[in-house]
Amino acid sequence: MEVVHDYKKLKQKYQQPASKKAGFFIPVNQNKNKNMYYNENTVIYFNGQFVKAAEAKTDLYSQSLHYGYAVFEGIRSYPINGSTKMFKGKEHYDRLRHSAKVMRIPFEYTTEKLMELTYEVLKRNNFTDAYIRPIVLCSPNMALSKGKESYLAIETWEWTNGYMSNKMKIMTSSYRRPNADAFHVDAKVSGHYVNSILACQEAKDNGFDEALVLDSNGFVAESSGANIFYENDGVLYTAPKGNILPGITRATVIELCKELNIPVEEKLFTPAEMKGADAGFFCGTAAEVVALSSLDNVEFKKNWEDSLSYVIQQAYKCKVLEQQFRIEEKAVA
Ligand SMILES: Cc1ncc(COP(=O)(O)O)c(C=O)c1O
Repeated sequence: MEVVHDYKKLKQKYQQPASKKAGFFIPVNQNKNKNMYYNENTVIYFNGQFVKAAEAKTDLYSQSLHYGYAVFEGIRSYPINGSTKMFKGKEHYDRLRHSAKVMRIPFEYTTEKLMELTYEVLKRNNFTDAYIRPIVLCSPNMALSKGKESYLAIETWEWTNGYMSNKMKIMTSSYRRPNADAFHVDAKVSGHYVNSILACQEAKDNGFDEALVLDSNGFVAESSGANIFYENDGVLYTAPKGNILPGITRATVIELCKELNIPVEEKLFTPAEMKGADAGFFCGTAAEVVALSSLDNVEFKKNWEDSLSYVIQQAYKCKVLEQQFRIEEKAVA
């Protein structure tokens, strides 16, 4: 399959192999350092000010710490024409505000202000290729009632992703995703990630790279920190909204399928339907588009480079970098 794009000309750093130890939110090339996220010079936005990360303090009596009652986002910025640009920053900050609202956490910032503050944090750290982690934390309160006050922190670290050249071996988790009747699963809430840690660690303890997590009815939902697609006979399939975090990357992949005339369907499916399919991938802001090699030790059939999923992977990288992308007509015929 011929894929023509400027991505091939990009610097070596985008093509480094990912470490096996890397998780979705870990800087791939820095995971040997004890403190991989900040040093004595790192600046964050916290509670109305720009402060040194090493000097910022939070409260040990916070509802967020005790109950996982906080909301957050994960955003990527990329180098674009000599400057720094967040990919879909507006969508991420709209989702942060939505998450705070459904969790009844008081939060007054507008999306525009959040974008402005983030660019300032990136500038003060001199970061371009970065991962941005805004988090809304609640004030001290041991009661099981809604948040009284919130604090915003915007943290960022440099990021050079190697996932794009990696292939993940995944297993069906014995853990299920949080039930949509019990949680706001479309919100990005800190407490939900305890479930992600259990699923991801179980996979690693069993010699896999990541987990495939089912919803409470036994249908495929997503992974610990990314959405999932599989490909069969020229069609891409992904789980519908309802029991997943509906990712901004997932929406971008669907948009790209439409632009490239690749058939895509949202439907409920079981791991049995996905096993032994032509190809599969995870997608998320941190993961970008990462190929899967096998599910429960059953390999995907197609050579990755011959799959439509590979076309999407390349198109996604071009999209975030605002590079041109085109494929030969015959590739999707
Ligand atoms: C559980 C889960 N699902 C899906 C995603 C993908 O979401 P997005 O593409 O908006 O990053 C994430 C990303 O953080 C996630 O944690």
